[in-house]
Amino acid sequence: MIRSVVRGNGAALPRRIMKNADFEGMVETSDEWIVQRTGIRQRHVAADDETTASLGEAAARAALDSAGLTPADIDLIVLATSTPNNTFPATAVEIQNRLGMHHGFAFDMQAVCSGFVYAVATADLYIRGGLAKRVLVIGSETFSRILDWSDRSTCVLFGDGAGAVVLEAAEGEGSIADRGVLAASLRSDGVHKDKLFVDGGPSTTGTVGHLRMEGREVFKHAVGMITDVIEATFAEAGITAQDLDWFVPHQANKRIIDASAKKLGIAEQKVVVTVDLHGNTSAASVPLALSVAVADGRIKKGDLVLLEAMGGGFTWGAVLLRW
Ligand code: ACO
Repeated sequence: MIRSVVRGNGAALPRRIMKNADFEGMVETSDEWIVQRTGIRQRHVAADDETTASLGEAAARAALDSAGLTPADIDLIVLATSTPNNTFPATAVEIQNRLGMHHGFAFDMQAVCSGFVYAVATADLYIRGGLAKRVLVIGSETFSRILDWSDRSTCVLFGDGAGAVVLEAAEGEGSIADRGVLAASLRSDGVHKDKLFVDGGPSTTGTVGHLRMEGREVFKHAVGMITDVIEATFAEAGITAQDLDWFVPHQANKRIIDASAKKLGIAEQKVVVTVDLHGNTSAASVPLALSVAVADGRIKKGDLVLLEAMGGGFTWGAVLLRW
């Protein structure tokens, strides 16, 4: 059977790093509060010339380099983002143009922080359905542009960045020993839409709006939703937490990551944590975490890797793949 195998990956971060202490003169907060409640120590913040498209392009080029491919080898770009350069066209099309790619097709996917997990699952279906052979899956965000910088309960949590993988069609035996995407489980429930949202949009206010969140409510639901969808993915693949080599969760809050891993019985040393470095970069957080763990030699070819995310909507999902 056809499998969607990761052939390369890459990442890009804005030049400017903002430390927790940099917020102390702006809102009533402290490095201690932010670290204790979230695990975040710093985040990257985009300059005016750094956009979702430019960061996404840089991550895509890094992924192509690591795969030994060029844009000519790609048939589809799926960009997960909630902070597009424009309301339309899709920022994926802008990245396609920046890459000098005038063949194939490109579209954006909007599932907030779950965007990259949704995008990998979607790209896998395009590959297995025979509509694409090589797909660039990108998560790129500039959440700094939609933050209310006077709201201490949200502005300290988010950061900007991008990550990407190249997925390629390859023959597999249909067993769990295959490389590539092995199982996926996606969920959403709009009953929670007002717990984490942006208070603007083209069809309502005609403005871009700002991020609003009931943090405690999100926290309350997060661990249960994450563990449910991961257990469904384990059941589909016929594995248990012990079989995993690496758990690469969405990087929103260290306490949510720790509680989810504990509930699932995933050993601490198998959990990739980058929330301290990047903050919550929404759809970019999982591919950014992947890039760190691949670059430092933790994730290696043949490793069994579980990706997971949960975000506004709510949306949530998990993807199991063999690297
Ligand atoms: N500095 C200092 N104090 C703060 C700050 C801050 N930056 N932010 C809030 N506080 C205060 C609050 O005002 C409150 O004060 P009060 O008791 O006087 O009212 C107090 O700290 C406690 O606030 P809580 O919201 O109860 O704090 P909590 O321990 O829940 O931590 C947090 C807040 C970090 C937001 C937590 O709820 C959380 O992580 N929630 C999940 C958020 C999340 O994961 N979001 C991303 C989802 S992914 C996506 O789609 C974007």
